[in-house]
Amino acid sequence: MGFTVAEKIIKAHLIDGQMETGSEIAIKIDQTLTQDATGTMAYLQFESMGLDRVQTELSVSYVDHNTLQEDWKNMDDHRYLQSVAARYGIWFSRPGNGICHQVHLERFGLPGKTLLGSDSHTPTGGGLGMLAIGAGGLDVAVAMGGGAFHLIMPKIVGVHLTGRLKGSTSAKDIILELLRRETVKGGVGTIYEYFGEGVASLSVTQRATICNMGAELGATTSLFPSDEITKQFLDMRSRGNQWLPLQADPDAQYARIIEINLDTLQPMIAQPHSPDNVIDVASITGIPVDQVVIGSCTNSSLEDLAAVASIVKGKVIDPRVSAGITPGSRTTLLAAEKAGILGELIRAGFRILESACGPCIGMGFAPKSGGISLRTFNRNFEGRSGTADARVYLCSPETAAAAALTGQITNPNQFTIDHTNLDTYLLAGIELADDGMLIPPVAIEEAKKITIERGPNIKPCPSPEPIPDSIQLPVLLKTGDNISTDDIMPAGAKVLPLRSNIPEISKFVFTRLDPDFWKRAKEVGSCIIVGGNNYGQGSSREHAALAPMYLGVKAVLVKSYARIHKANLVNYGILPLIFIDPEDYHKIDQNDQLELAHLHSLLETGSSSFEIFNKTKNLIIRVKLDVDDRSRRILRAGGLVPYTRSGGN
Ligand code: F3S
Repeated sequence: MGFTVAEKIIKAHLIDGQMETGSEIAIKIDQTLTQDATGTMAYLQFESMGLDRVQTELSVSYVDHNTLQEDWKNMDDHRYLQSVAARYGIWFSRPGNGICHQVHLERFGLPGKTLLGSDSHTPTGGGLGMLAIGAGGLDVAVAMGGGAFHLIMPKIVGVHLTGRLKGSTSAKDIILELLRRETVKGGVGTIYEYFGEGVASLSVTQRATICNMGAELGATTSLFPSDEITKQFLDMRSRGNQWLPLQADPDAQYARIIEINLDTLQPMIAQPHSPDNVIDVASITGIPVDQVVIGSCTNSSLEDLAAVASIVKGKVIDPRVSAGITPGSRTTLLAAEKAGILGELIRAGFRILESACGPCIGMGFAPKSGGISLRTFNRNFEGRSGTADARVYLCSPETAAAAALTGQITNPNQFTIDHTNLDTYLLAGIELADDGMLIPPVAIEEAKKITIERGPNIKPCPSPEPIPDSIQLPVLLKTGDNISTDDIMPAGAKVLPLRSNIPEISKFVFTRLDPDFWKRAKEVGSCIIVGGNNYGQGSSREHAALAPMYLGVKAVLVKSYARIHKANLVNYGILPLIFIDPEDYHKIDQNDQLELAHLHSLLETGSSSFEIFNKTKNLIIRVKLDVDDRSRRILRAGGLVPYTRSGGN
């Protein structure tokens, strides 16, 4: 039997385990990336390993999330990140240089390589035929130290693309359609691999948009083959000599095949407040729009900007709409200027924002109170825009541009896209911005002389305490389904500058659901959280495990988890428990006292199910610890740092 593209890459990087769905495997990581919101902790942890240099082929530290400098805190973090990068042989992308995934695609991504990133949208690299996986910062620190990345071998689901996109339908509509069908839980334990004749009609940046938002499916990653289109993309960026062809074997087997016919696909839109609440645009046209934002790591490429420019060329944005653009990188911005695209956008009335995450993470450009915002982003969780009662829709750049002109949700198929400007420009090759904003590593002898800058905002990373054998825990919070890492550990202008200061940032844990959570947690010392399905969906931020750990959360008991958050809980020594019967969720109320006994033997013997006692209601609840053997050893050691220090791998 032949291999899929994903299997070929995994096979070439397999260090331990069997390539059978559901088995524990360990793979070698070629490249890593971090962003600033997760990077400071990752580098503090890397430093504690005592190495002289990263052990990967290439590691990059990006500053893109928190680029605003309202006071000294962010700048302290940026200087720490820059000096750590210089000290340990890491590339450094300065604030304003661009969004990590867009810059990585342009500058570093390569077919056939593995990439581990401390950001959940790392799978963007799958557009180039990479196996690119999002993980917690601690896992990335281990990979930088030369350690393997451990995961459960996912099932490989094939997405068969036929036909060709028509009119103003775009790559974003493909992934929105997949989200409509598969939902935000549909991709757990899955790699989505795209194949079929439709692939050849999609550019690398279109493929990257699809892989980027595959993260919203809960997937391990998504990827495309590497073909002539991939070669052209690399050629245009003077990297054609690094190209490698990579196709699935003709007799490769997929666990399941999803058919999408691009000929008949229509513009789609995700309604508030979930990326899978998808409907075709034509069904909801006419809804008035207050704000339009083009950008984020999903849709901020030159082609995205060109599509918008083509629609708004010679016209002016509706006066009721506030419209902004965050170009994916300074290279994109420079190219848009040279191709005449930037001028069209400016003349139409778009505000040009910095090349950074910005509005995607509630950092500037929030909608008006109760406003409707159309965004080309990947997430529309309540409050993420920076405005608690805003209603955010997710759509393609084409749909966003149409709404910007008309002031209401509009089917973009009534506009014609003309790529002549872009095509002429691309033929001449992309000029990579050479402005000192991307700093290469220095030689090891020089690097050893560099002093790492630690301002007062850089506090040591607290260590977890090993789980006791038996413990009684109050249920300090009971939540519903689809709790996101934004709900657990919000981002935004007030919170992000504290990401290197766990005692302070922990005061924001669960503030959206319970503003006094941190005070109550401090009072009780140790506690458990109870939740519903898909707990911890959304971003990879490990602060959503680290800060609760600091506050004394010893266990979480839910119906199901999002992959990265579950791994982060394990890494910080928090027991990720699951109800065996989801109906038992109703047998626990907030403030109930739960007794957990014989935890050490549970972790050591590998038995997965056990009973906990609800002392308040005098009843027994059966739960499961559904983790692999290595995760059990990590939990027994009290977390990944103590586990690694004690020689675990
Ligand atoms: Fe940044 Fe938003 Fe992507 S925070 S990395 S643009 S999901």
